[in-house]
Amino acid sequence: QRIVVLISGSGSNLQTLIDHSQKGDLHGNIVGVISNKADAFGLVRAQNASIPSLVLDHKTFASREDFDLALIEHIDSFKPDLVVLAGFMRILSAEFVRRYQGHLMNIHPSLLPRYKGLNTHQRALDAGDAEHGCSVHFVTEELDGGPIIIQAKTPILMEDDSASLQARVHTLEHKIYPLAVSWFCSGRLRVTDDGVMLDDNCL
Ligand code: GRF
Repeated sequence: QRIVVLISGSGSNLQTLIDHSQKGDLHGNIVGVISNKADAFGLVRAQNASIPSLVLDHKTFASREDFDLALIEHIDSFKPDLVVLAGFMRILSAEFVRRYQGHLMNIHPSLLPRYKGLNTHQRALDAGDAEHGCSVHFVTEELDGGPIIIQAKTPILMEDDSASLQARVHTLEHKIYPLAVSWFCSGRLRVTDDGVMLDDNCL
């Protein structure tokens, strides 16, 4: 399976996907990386792994729709089966989301449906939650609202602040994103009206 990864920053999730792909347990290859930021460290990670990458700066486009159309063109040039959002900090237009529906995944640093949007770690602390975590989900037109594929959680400790919580959740992200991608690539995920089903023979 051909995978395109979209990033905006450090790309540690991209790195985990690269590592798993090189080990052969992703059931897919990362064929392209696209960043909307020229200084994203993830671009260096792609280069180090000899994965073709490019920068598409949203600031050079007149509108979100124009940017998304250009993004679609570049993504499609890689002929992907799956598009993976890994810290891609742009809200995507309805047209974009529809184009890749069922083939577009995101990782979000909260236990969805709690804390859609930004500042999830601080919001979980402020709410006095006992636990926090991350979710991999298919992307739909509703922001952070699509069918959930897998979640991982960690208890919130007395001494936690936003940074410590973020670090712990990040390590969980690195565990569940490759799993979700490998399930997709091996054809084991099915979206039903009740959510995502994982076919058996896998656990
Ligand atoms: C992660 O926390 C992810 O949940 C969020 O953006 C961050 C990306 O981190 N969507 P990285 O660039 O993969 O290190």
